[in-house]
Amino acid sequence: MAAYIPDDKIEAIKNASDIVDIVSEVVSLRRAGRNLLGLCPFHAEKTPSFTVSPDKQIFHCFGCGAGGNVFTFLMKQGGLSFPEAARALARRYGIDLPTRDLSPFEKKKLTERETILTLIDEAMAFYSERLLSGREGQQAMGYLLKRGMTRKTIDDYSLGFAPEGWDHLARHLHSRKRSPAMAAQAGLIVPRKKGEGYYDRFRNRIVFPIFNAQNQPIGFGGRVMDDALPKYLNGPETPVYNKSRSLYGLNAARQKCREAGTVYVVEGYFDMLSMHQVGLTNTVATLGTSLTAEHVRILRGFVGEEGNAVLVYDSDQAGIKAAQRSVAVFQQGNLEARILVLPEGHDPDSFIMEQGPDDFLKAAGGAMAIFSFMTESAVDRYGLNVEGKVRIVNELKPAILAIGDPVARSLRIKQLAERIEVEESVVLDKIRRGNPAPPARPAWANVGGGRDRTREAPPVRGETYRLEQRLVAMMLQFPEMVADIKRRRLTDHFSDPVLTEIGKEIIDHFNQNGSDIASLISRWDDPEKRAMVTRLSINDEHWGKQGCMALIRQFENSIRRRDKALLKRIEAAEKSGDDDLLAQLLREKQHQAQRTTARQSDTIPF
Ligand code: UTP
Ligand code: MN
Repeated sequence: MAAYIPDDKIEAIKNASDIVDIVSEVVSLRRAGRNLLGLCPFHAEKTPSFTVSPDKQIFHCFGCGAGGNVFTFLMKQGGLSFPEAARALARRYGIDLPTRDLSPFEKKKLTERETILTLIDEAMAFYSERLLSGREGQQAMGYLLKRGMTRKTIDDYSLGFAPEGWDHLARHLHSRKRSPAMAAQAGLIVPRKKGEGYYDRFRNRIVFPIFNAQNQPIGFGGRVMDDALPKYLNGPETPVYNKSRSLYGLNAARQKCREAGTVYVVEGYFDMLSMHQVGLTNTVATLGTSLTAEHVRILRGFVGEEGNAVLVYDSDQAGIKAAQRSVAVFQQGNLEARILVLPEGHDPDSFIMEQGPDDFLKAAGGAMAIFSFMTESAVDRYGLNVEGKVRIVNELKPAILAIGDPVARSLRIKQLAERIEVEESVVLDKIRRGNPAPPARPAWANVGGGRDRTREAPPVRGETYRLEQRLVAMMLQFPEMVADIKRRRLTDHFSDPVLTEIGKEIIDHFNQNGSDIASLISRWDDPEKRAMVTRLSINDEHWGKQGCMALIRQFENSIRRRDKALLKRIEAAEKSGDDDLLAQLLREKQHQAQRTTARQSDTIPF
């Protein structure tokens, strides 16, 4: 899989990385015994079940079952391929990878995504260079300074300028022998409608690079410097730029979000920059799209379980619209959201520039919880006469129905009923009408968390399965016993095929590499298998030699019991004359005998 990153480099990357660092970038973790605990970034949950083991360098979520090592975390979280994850880690930990002397075959294997990332990086450097030099650049620089951006902000956020003209960037990339088709895929240039060739997407605009959480530029937005339309041009989605999980300012917002427990969500590029410039770096901007469940999940990871988001809008109207659109998303993502509507005529940028951060914080202190905001705004608009009350309940109905948790839902209904002075049962009735409660799902169906997977009922698994699991957990957590298990050939007697495979792989891997679970996980592409291993390894159990031996004996006894039971069934089949069954049972017995001989000849030397 990692053919073109040499194994010793992978090893070096693995040794240099710390899964706690990497996970902390997107999840706020707290200590819980030897492990760390946080809210899972892969599904919506209220109580943290996402566990990271610093000792073992693995993670496991007991809610949705995701699990893996630092590579798989990055792959899952950032949607990266293995080499991309490895490269991202190498960059971060300052490990040089031999990109320059790749063989032609290896070069071809550089994934499309990586090529695109490189192109975007080059474009960012190009735009930045154009801003800082040249006559046209001066005008753009003048615009930014006039808007109150400092040199430091311009530098920190790598703002740039796309010069006027059709193909400055296209020619620049061409002169560097970059593939125009890839540059088009990166969203930087656009194929001409007539004839051949490409033209620059961003022309005569200030450009704002958009970064991912790993600090890589993944796309651009661009603003004109006059009244031309469109005012803002947003780059398209590409294999590296997914708008539903990208936010402007995200990469710089993490630390302050964690400290403050709050994230401000604004609408505009300059809004974000102005907030950051005065130290309110716990601010992100949506990029011309509405907030998605993924955004909420990422933000919740930043602010932690007790944290909240404050949506900042420049008018009541915008606030109401946004509240209506996003209330369900916040509900489902379990992130408390408030709405701050700035005084008439202000957006966050103009407010900060005129009044400064202290006044902003004062105003933010009065931000209303999203549901109260919606209620109050509906009360304002419709009034509290009979007709008004009917309209208020109607307007809030979708928001209430979006609340999945029945307790939270009934609290909201109560709150609304009290506010508009209507009997709770009447409100309840109105909200229920035509909207029957969703059918109750069996408890196991919720294991998948937010993901909407249709699952089959899990097979009923008995004592044998439990014992086999315990043995595998023991091998993982108390690797001193692995040699013993191998000698006794216990895994040959496992009845569960997946556990058998895992058991054998553990023996094989530990034999060659020592008891390194993080690297053991890399052997498998199958997420179910990885999850099984992380789940069984991550517990903080205390294994003693005695306890281990007791477990082994218990398993061996169960094997013996199983053998005896088989004999009984064979006798019975003989008596009843059921030949098919008999043949099947005899085959089973033969298998068992083979395993037992193997075992005995193994335990008795020579
Ligand atoms: P606004 O029109 O409210 O502008 O757009 P703004 O952010 O205050 O911009 P300035 O201060 O005049 O520079 C808010 C956001 O909506 C998106 C952009 O993300 C913008 O920042 N937008 C706006 C577009 O995507 N396209 C547009 O043409 C306009
Ligand atoms: Mn503005």
